[in-house]
Amino acid sequence: MRTIDWDEDRDCVVMVDQTKLPAEYTTYRAETIGDLVESIEVLRVRGAPALGAAGAYGVALATRTNDADGYEEFAETVRADAERVANARPTAVNLAREVDALLGVLADCDSIGEARERTLDAAQELADEDVRRNKRLGEHGAGLLADGATVMTHCNAGALATVDWGTALGVVYSAREAGKDVDVVANETRPLNQGSRITTVELMERDVDVTLIPDNAAGLSLQEGRVDAVVVGADRVVLEGGGPDGDQGVVFNKIGTYKHAVVADRHDVPFVVAAPHATVDTERSADEVEIEERDPTELREIYGTQNAPEDVPVYNPAFDRTPMELVDYLVTETGVYEPPLERADFAEPPTPEA
Ligand code: MRU
Repeated sequence: MRTIDWDEDRDCVVMVDQTKLPAEYTTYRAETIGDLVESIEVLRVRGAPALGAAGAYGVALATRTNDADGYEEFAETVRADAERVANARPTAVNLAREVDALLGVLADCDSIGEARERTLDAAQELADEDVRRNKRLGEHGAGLLADGATVMTHCNAGALATVDWGTALGVVYSAREAGKDVDVVANETRPLNQGSRITTVELMERDVDVTLIPDNAAGLSLQEGRVDAVVVGADRVVLEGGGPDGDQGVVFNKIGTYKHAVVADRHDVPFVVAAPHATVDTERSADEVEIEERDPTELREIYGTQNAPEDVPVYNPAFDRTPMELVDYLVTETGVYEPPLERADFAEPPTPEA
């Protein structure tokens, strides 16, 4: 099944429950807006493009869990629910962006029936387009990988971070479809271990050779020449700002990404970011993007067992900023771009293809 989808029988959102991986591959049904918001917060569904789909399906769900009488009251309740969904996580641009896109569809509707039908159609179309564009992105990115290449990746930017196929791992899948023998080094990705719990599972399911390493072994692996390219996804790409390390823009991605980019640069290993145009935010500069800080418990405990003094102060950012100066290639569904990026290339989203 897709990572996230619409359950036609129960009229609700259905998703792979990623909190249960790798022990169980189960699904979860979000039947209320509260269920969906909680699912986003606890990372049952996660990864920027999958969050975009969750936002879109969230608006469709809000049109169904709403028993207002008149259309005005109905639309107001949908907008309030949509805002809760959009605010469930702050860093990935896709979540709020797709909620907004669906509210645009709602704004053109005149009746509850029309709103229910058209928001669901639009959410389904958006999910289908995510899969199509990931495939195109993968084909473009595959050209960067030689036969026999070893790719290091961080977190999970695979099928399970998107509706299907993936971005960074989509590049690997497309390279393999093109007949290249490509294998993967997966960083564990503390503290929530998306690398060990999710990336390894999806790669092994697809018979891709993968070696799991602790995050702290990434530097040594790059220094020892075990890696030919680092390929990661992105939660948001901005074209302005970057702080002391540059001003050509920033890639926001899972905490730890920046460190890998610095070490890759040190050892002349290409650093590749794979993300659709929908992840490029042309409106904000780097210092306007909020980096989500997560619960200290994620560090003070490991799977319910104490890992640190209960009251130790904790800084637990979920994402970091990689200055564009450290990025060799940005791969999107329209091609491969070499920074510095031209704003004109990202001003308009590409037209969806059927
Ligand atoms: O906190 P997560 O698991 O949602 O973080 C996900 C990532 O950082 C991914 O690398 C990113 O969203 C790219 S997904 C194709």
